[in-house]
Amino acid sequence: EKGGYDHFMLKEIYEQPSVIKDTYRGRLHANEGLIQMAGVEDNLEKFLNAERIIIVACGTSWHAGLVAEYIFEEFTRIPVEVEYASEFRYRNPIINRNDVVIAISQSGETADTMAAIKLAKENGAFVFGVCNVVGSSISRETHAGAYTHAGPEIGVASTKAFTTQITVLTMIALRLAKAKGTLSTSVFHAYLNELEIIPEKVKEALETNEKAKEIAAVFKDAPNCLYLGRGYNFPVALEGALKLKEISYIHAEGYPAAEMKHGPIALIDELMPVIVIAPKQGHYDKIVSNIQEIKSRSGKIIAVVTKGDTQVRELADYIIEIPETSDALSPLITTIPLQLLSYHIAVMRGCNVDQPRNLAKSVTVE
Ligand code: M6R
Repeated sequence: EKGGYDHFMLKEIYEQPSVIKDTYRGRLHANEGLIQMAGVEDNLEKFLNAERIIIVACGTSWHAGLVAEYIFEEFTRIPVEVEYASEFRYRNPIINRNDVVIAISQSGETADTMAAIKLAKENGAFVFGVCNVVGSSISRETHAGAYTHAGPEIGVASTKAFTTQITVLTMIALRLAKAKGTLSTSVFHAYLNELEIIPEKVKEALETNEKAKEIAAVFKDAPNCLYLGRGYNFPVALEGALKLKEISYIHAEGYPAAEMKHGPIALIDELMPVIVIAPKQGHYDKIVSNIQEIKSRSGKIIAVVTKGDTQVRELADYIIEIPETSDALSPLITTIPLQLLSYHIAVMRGCNVDQPRNLAKSVTVE
């Protein structure tokens, strides 16, 4: 049932090119310049009248929500807030009738996310679910929704759920951008075309497996690890760190790269591996200077870069090359080598990759 892979996690990592296709099949029509999602079409007015979008989720789904915040604001100019469901539900949040709440949950059973949804409904908000498990509690409790169609995710560490959640949320943002006219026609079409070929690029990104394994062998005994990214890739840094801590039990933190100098830089010495997400698109020059700051403090730099990169290669101790894509879609690619890196480190440390200690696949208690 693991399809020849040693672990479900690895199988699920490798499924990403095909499940992303499953996610957009019948919804993304790049040739016609169309996005069709029933849950969105049926409630288009609600989305278009939204004064604000509030995203509630936990864990990896919350990270997908953060990526979506950057995408929605850029594409649709609708203000977005992303909240941990557990914080939202207990802090008497301001929820207005014109707010659209998007709840993201792979399992559709997470107790805190469920409670946040109920609270939002009580306050008159329209609640849209992005779930993977068909017929799950959250998919039933929400007013409408869109499934990710990633297939069963068995590994406790979420992988394909993350990339398919981002795919669904990107399609929603594009649909709204089209209706609102907040993206130029050419940019809109370019995103549709790029999203359509993303599975090919994910496949190419999976070719970093050997490199990830090689790097894993070097750093498997590190006690700490720092992940840095900017913009769309800041949430990917958080996700990379979460993946490492939950399956390998190495303490890891994700940070927006520029925040490093406000504290975490004090941690850097020759024993500290720093994983920097530094694709060509985005804030490249800024991240290059962040890398210089780490290097001058003898930190060990592992950089995820776009194929053909020359500048970061000069500075980094290790580079992982990924195919080029647009800045906004890059999380779908940059996250792949980070999943592989965590996986190999956990395996080399003899950890139970699919069922890490103390963790459950769905957190149905608060
Ligand atoms: O099923 P959900 O997406 O609601 O689960 C949320 C988190 O419990 C989940 O993402 C958790 O953080 C994973 N173990 C991360 O890999």
